[in-house]
Amino acid sequence: MNGPVSFETHGEIGVIRVDNPPVNATSQAVRAGLIAAADAFAASDAKVAVIVAEGRTFIAGADITEFGKPPMEPHLPDVIHHIEALKKPVVCVIHGTALGGGFEVALGSHYRVMVKGAKIGLPEVNLGLIPGAGGTQRLPRLIGMIPACEIFTSSRQVGADECVKLGIADAVSTEAPFEAGMSFARKVLAEGLGVRRVSEMTVPAYAAADLEALKAKVARANKGHVCHLKGIDVAVEGTKLPFSEGMKMERAAFWELMQTPQRAAMIHAFFSERKVASLPELKGVSPRPLGHVGVIGGGTMGGGIAVACLLNGLKVTLIERDAEAVERAHTGIARMLADSVKRGKLGADARDALLAEKLVTTSDYPSLAAADLIIEAVFESMDVKKDVFTKLDAIARPGAILASNTSYLDVDEIAACTKRPQDVIGLHFFSPAHVMRLLEIVVAGKTAPDVVATGFALAKALKKVPVRAGVCDGFIGNRILKTYRTAADIMVLEGASPFQVDKALEEFGFAMGPYAVADLAGIDIGYLTRQRLAPTRKPGERFGEWGDVLYEMGRLGRKSGHGHYIYDETSPKGRPDPEVEEIIARERKAKGITPRAFSDAEIVERYMAAMINEGAKVVGEGIALRPLDVDVTKLMGYGFPRFRGGPMHYADHIGLAKVLGTIEDAHKAGDDIFAPAPLLQKLVAEGRSFDSLNKE
Ligand code: 3HC
Ligand code: NAI
Repeated sequence: MNGPVSFETHGEIGVIRVDNPPVNATSQAVRAGLIAAADAFAASDAKVAVIVAEGRTFIAGADITEFGKPPMEPHLPDVIHHIEALKKPVVCVIHGTALGGGFEVALGSHYRVMVKGAKIGLPEVNLGLIPGAGGTQRLPRLIGMIPACEIFTSSRQVGADECVKLGIADAVSTEAPFEAGMSFARKVLAEGLGVRRVSEMTVPAYAAADLEALKAKVARANKGHVCHLKGIDVAVEGTKLPFSEGMKMERAAFWELMQTPQRAAMIHAFFSERKVASLPELKGVSPRPLGHVGVIGGGTMGGGIAVACLLNGLKVTLIERDAEAVERAHTGIARMLADSVKRGKLGADARDALLAEKLVTTSDYPSLAAADLIIEAVFESMDVKKDVFTKLDAIARPGAILASNTSYLDVDEIAACTKRPQDVIGLHFFSPAHVMRLLEIVVAGKTAPDVVATGFALAKALKKVPVRAGVCDGFIGNRILKTYRTAADIMVLEGASPFQVDKALEEFGFAMGPYAVADLAGIDIGYLTRQRLAPTRKPGERFGEWGDVLYEMGRLGRKSGHGHYIYDETSPKGRPDPEVEEIIARERKAKGITPRAFSDAEIVERYMAAMINEGAKVVGEGIALRPLDVDVTKLMGYGFPRFRGGPMHYADHIGLAKVLGTIEDAHKAGDDIFAPAPLLQKLVAEGRSFDSLNKE
């Protein structure tokens, strides 16, 4: 047999081998190969078969690149049925991860052996889907309705030991995959074990109240998504029917979801998150060494960056201003590592070793002389940053990379104060830096290609998603943020209430609206930003000033119990404060604005148009390479709802002409932020989408 699946016999044991790099996805060729191999096994003298995969992982699921195209036979559920229906036992060996359709192949086998460290999962909900090859019908029969629904609605990966406890795996093996399969097959032969079809099992009884509790939890955690509850319905209703009817129900729901914009959005997100790291400019460029990282400033960001590095095997030297600040930074880092221990992500011994052997905290700059990469995370002030970079220039070894975590400042200007601008780059982490997965890699005019490559290598080492950005005020993420936040403030000035804006955007899918976020971050942050921008603000520029009043009243947001919302025992998550509306009404009056009503739809439309239009400017100016880089930035760093795929994908979905129309209407009042992006105008004129640029 040629192709990605082969069959061979070893005495009485048949071996079905899947070899379809990189992740053994069940492409059409794999599906056809599995049928042929199953037939070859049936026709052979072998008494038991082992399914084993080559390479780093067992089958990682259906081939996602086939989604959205016409389906090709044989379909995966039929392939799995074909395997399960065999009259001789089949053992499946799982190594790496058996995900989605891969785990469903395992569920159709009669026995499952997991190699130590292997995991299973049904992550289809991450793609806006439900399991579509028997996952919703076989897993509840095997382990019970509630644990099964929990697994496929959470998409979590379940380790080998838990799989044995749940009854998913028959054994865990410390052998290599092939040997593990052969050993179990010999046991099957020795004990005369026969076929054992999950489809013939019945779902164990469960309490209706437990199901309702799970549904409520799933609905809360996945607001706006359509697939999760659909999956539970199909599992519950389908398993009341004969197996083949349940499978039809699952298939119908799977195909229905396959046609939804949510599925297209989430698959766009999946591939975009991977494409951001593939840059033509990095082809053939090797990164510089990266073992010892220096961090300057041990506050919110510096502490988090240090922890991210420590947790991923890098040595850290952190510099603070004086002994007291050094002590504070050390305590902060120890606290974050203790949290990791509490959450089971790190052993207590490993934590102690990190603190003792991998971390140095000091106020002595020359301790950085041997560092490969030094990341500055001091106050957001050009003067302070220049002072730090001048010091670094004097002590860092030749070839060391000097990076700034600045949120807005000009990296070219920072680089210019050193004698080595080719070694200077922006590495913009997000708070909390050891948790948030986005890393904006800000490439300045003179940054050397291997310095950029090292930025990407750092992201990989820290398990973060890197997005390349050019230099401008706020780079990709914060520049766009500034625009749509101002758009929201202008709508409030024109008559919407902050509470209505938040509600409309939360219904759209954001976890929190901008004013709830402002309360969480602290009203003082917005106040300080307005102070910073005041000297360069253009005359006549409209912006909201009620935040300054709140600040002066000491209403700093959640931390003081009052901001836009009131936070107390009766409403820990906040309730609207009518006094805020009075403060805003006074500001409108002073500015001569007659308020008008906004519908929720208009709020979303204008907020999104502002975001998309600025995104188009960012792409048009080359600050972001492609629209997908904007999407990943907003998805990973700014809570953009994943089921909408990112602002640029969403723009394609609603139509660019409509977005341009909204922007042109908003621009009539003369606000610069609404000036139409030339790229948006060009694409509309040419009848093209943002996605067409992703493919160039
Ligand atoms: N189909 C097609 N390509 C896939 C794929 C899949 N299911 N899973 C991964 N790939 C590709 C990636 O795009 C990437 O391609 P690239 O090198 O060209 O960028 C390559 O394989 C390697 O992937 P990663 O970089 O993600 O490798 P990792 O080792 O970090 O992770 C993984 C491996 C855990 C398997 C991860 O890729 C993953 O989570 N994949 C998705 C798994 C999934 O969602 N499966 C369910 C699919 S839906 C389904 O099965 C429906 C069924 O119920 C009918
Ligand atoms: P912070 O105020 O919490 O910490 C700054 C730390 O730098 C303080 O501990 C201070 O003692 C120290 N410091 C100041 N000057 C120093 C010097 N010369 N040498 C050594 N240490 C010095 O500030 P935060 O929030 O950590 O921000 C740091 C940088 O990161 C800023 O540029 C900010 O814009 C950026 N940033 C902040 C984010 C956030 O959410 N807080 C997100 C992303 C970037």
